[in-house]
Amino acid sequence: MRVTKIELKNFRNYSHLEQEFYPGAQILYGKNAQGKTNILESIYLCTCARSHRTGKDMELVQQGKDDYDVKIIFITDKGIEEEIRIHYLAAISGDPLRVKPIRHIYHNGVRLERVGDMMGLFNAVIFAPEDLQLIKDGPSARRRFLDLLISQLYPPYFKDLLQYQHLLTQRNNLLKQLRDDYAAENNLTEYNLNLAVWDEQIANCSARIISLRQEIVNEIDILANDAISQITGLKEELRLRYKTVASISENITLDEVQEIMKNRLREQAVDDISKGYTGIGPHRDDLMFNLNGREVRPFASQGQQRSIVLSLKLAELLLLRRRTGESPVLLLDDVMSELDSGRRFRLLQSIDKHQSFITCTDLSQVLRGYVTETYSPADIVDDYSIFEVDRATVTKVPPQTQ
Ligand SMILES: Nc1ncnc2c1ncn2[C@@H]1O[C@H](COP(=O)(O)OP(=O)(O)O)[C@@H](O)[C@H]1O
Ligand SMILES: [Mg+2]
Repeated sequence: MRVTKIELKNFRNYSHLEQEFYPGAQILYGKNAQGKTNILESIYLCTCARSHRTGKDMELVQQGKDDYDVKIIFITDKGIEEEIRIHYLAAISGDPLRVKPIRHIYHNGVRLERVGDMMGLFNAVIFAPEDLQLIKDGPSARRRFLDLLISQLYPPYFKDLLQYQHLLTQRNNLLKQLRDDYAAENNLTEYNLNLAVWDEQIANCSARIISLRQEIVNEIDILANDAISQITGLKEELRLRYKTVASISENITLDEVQEIMKNRLREQAVDDISKGYTGIGPHRDDLMFNLNGREVRPFASQGQQRSIVLSLKLAELLLLRRRTGESPVLLLDDVMSELDSGRRFRLLQSIDKHQSFITCTDLSQVLRGYVTETYSPADIVDDYSIFEVDRATVTKVPPQTQ
């Protein structure tokens, strides 16, 4: 798929922007803080209604305004034109109709009931400086990465996640209540039956989530391992593994996962009651990275971490393409300056067939990769478009002056 047009209203530093885009690489260049990343952010927002930089919609609303409106028009690889629009209205104190924030999502002009309904409609993969958090931060960033990817591939998964969250909240509420009752009455028998009801449902839902995550991680594992050798040109061995509840191994059936989860929840119950929350399950799982036989977090250098994240993103891209039959749009934010020319070239080569949005402050870093090794100059004009971004104004640079 490829984006043909975006329309922004009161989004970040854009009061109003209508901009057309073209096949191939869309190179956005300009000084810092002009609005380059904001454009990539608005495009990414249309995949899952969440920014890659923040979970707070209010930060996206232009300062002094109370709503934002983002629309992208794109053409699928099958040649169908579609449109995603997100209209967010902030809460306004004193306005009875705006007590809570409101978010409306539209697909081809039709309002979608839930965020889950937009999953998989428009797919984009983003590479941004923030992605290093995938390695440096705690497991929640890695779970989010997996969850968003799987939701794009398989939208019913998103509903399972919401249901799981709901069930977990119910179970945790009951645990807290049991903890209080237990302290008062010293009697647990009656409540164990109540817990069992939630455990049954949680085990059911968990099994679907865990099995799908395992399956996808196994696929990413192979793709990312290929990608890292391709990017670095070295024989690095990258291994990914999904870390879950003890004794749930790969290659067991959904029913078996469910049974183990149910038993583990039961064994865990006394401990959970004393803590007042559920200590095991998909909400505690993690994605582990191993490079050349060693755990990545404490050992890998900054450069290696960057290559790992990039490989992970390339794996995501390939997996989306393989499973959906559509080429996702690629968003490359400030990555060029961080890669040496060899890596830059190999990256550009591997994303050749996709529409990409590439931000940079120094045009020559991007162009050199294209001009010297990949294309003859005659190909270049068709293959990329250059836009200057200057204080929220986007200007397409005519080909003859490039
Ligand atoms: N909610 C907002 N309202 C108005 N301006 C914003 C908002 N959020 C960010 N900005 C402005 O957007 C600019 C940064 O845009 P960004 O796209 O990140 O820059 P860059 O071109 O360096 O990628 C800054 O000038 C910042 O002040
Ligand atoms: Mg930026």
